[in-house]
Amino acid sequence: MSLIVFPFKEETLEVVAANLTTAATHDRVHEVWAVGAADNITTDRVADLGRDISVAHSKPVEVFAQERLGTFRSGKGDGMNTAIRRAAERGFDRIHFYDADITNFDHGWIDGAEEAADRGFGVVRHRFPRAATDAMITWMVTRPGLATLFPGTILPRLGQPLGGELLLTESAVAALASDDAVVARSDWGIDTMITHRTAALGLDIYEHNAPDGKRHALYGSLTDIRDMTLECLDAVSSLADAARPTSTFEPDPPAPVPDDLKEVVGYDTASTRESIATQPSGEETAVLDELGADGSTDLGGEEWLDVFPRLMRGFDLDSPGWRAAAFRLWVRRVLHYTENVVPSGYDPATNYLEGTILSFEAQADKHGRP
Ligand code: LAC
Repeated sequence: MSLIVFPFKEETLEVVAANLTTAATHDRVHEVWAVGAADNITTDRVADLGRDISVAHSKPVEVFAQERLGTFRSGKGDGMNTAIRRAAERGFDRIHFYDADITNFDHGWIDGAEEAADRGFGVVRHRFPRAATDAMITWMVTRPGLATLFPGTILPRLGQPLGGELLLTESAVAALASDDAVVARSDWGIDTMITHRTAALGLDIYEHNAPDGKRHALYGSLTDIRDMTLECLDAVSSLADAARPTSTFEPDPPAPVPDDLKEVVGYDTASTRESIATQPSGEETAVLDELGADGSTDLGGEEWLDVFPRLMRGFDLDSPGWRAAAFRLWVRRVLHYTENVVPSGYDPATNYLEGTILSFEAQADKHGRP
């Protein structure tokens, strides 16, 4: 029995309707759930869509609001955990998660995950090509963090540790449902926690490549993803003493990246630069001093390699000074990469980023965990 779950918040209803229909019309899928961020008008509208799609395709489509389960900001984590808990109670063999805003979701995603699960993989993660300036949390925070904490393991090798598109088999669902740190993580940190925990379960993990990429709305200024950046930094830093992975990992071979994706710009540089034009407050300055960073210039790869482990070690999600300093330094790192590396072209930029992850691993190998 396979279940498909879409966590959603404020979404374009046509996109959600198309995605629910795609899921409901797949013959391996027994049930479809959409978990809303709140009991609000969007959830009511998605519920109406769900009823129509359920009748049209004779398949259960349930739409409900997420429960308050965690202890961090209530966000995507509460949505995923609400679904994980219910799915564990209902005993589904497989549960797929997909973001509700994918505009090119089709049966190929479901097939790719189901086929790998048929071959015995306990977790299937979808990977997809992304624009050179997209995935700036993945490249500058989560993968460096995993490389620093778990060098030489599968964790730094996962292409998309923040990916929200994945299949979990029953034993993974049961383990996550009873893991206090996962259930607590109600914010954007949830993906990092699920990634770490599934890698520590000893299951075989497969990374399926969705070759067309995931088409979805991109960001304006990087301030749009400020909370996500800080919550993902906090989640990875919370893994400092966590178990080393025991799962095996096998990725799909690399595939060509669609040409149009190579041209996509991930965010707006001008408004992003404006967002860090303000002078740091006293609290922020104290943190920058503690980190040995001045915050007034952009950061190249070597500077990030140097400061990031200290940033991760000291980070305090509840402290305005730490939040402001972490965001400023990350923005300055992303701008530096965007203006100095991205112009050399898509493939060189992507290879460069992969190289930065290897540097974090090499540094951690030499010095041990921070
Ligand atoms: C990432 C977010 C921004 O993967 O989508 O970095």
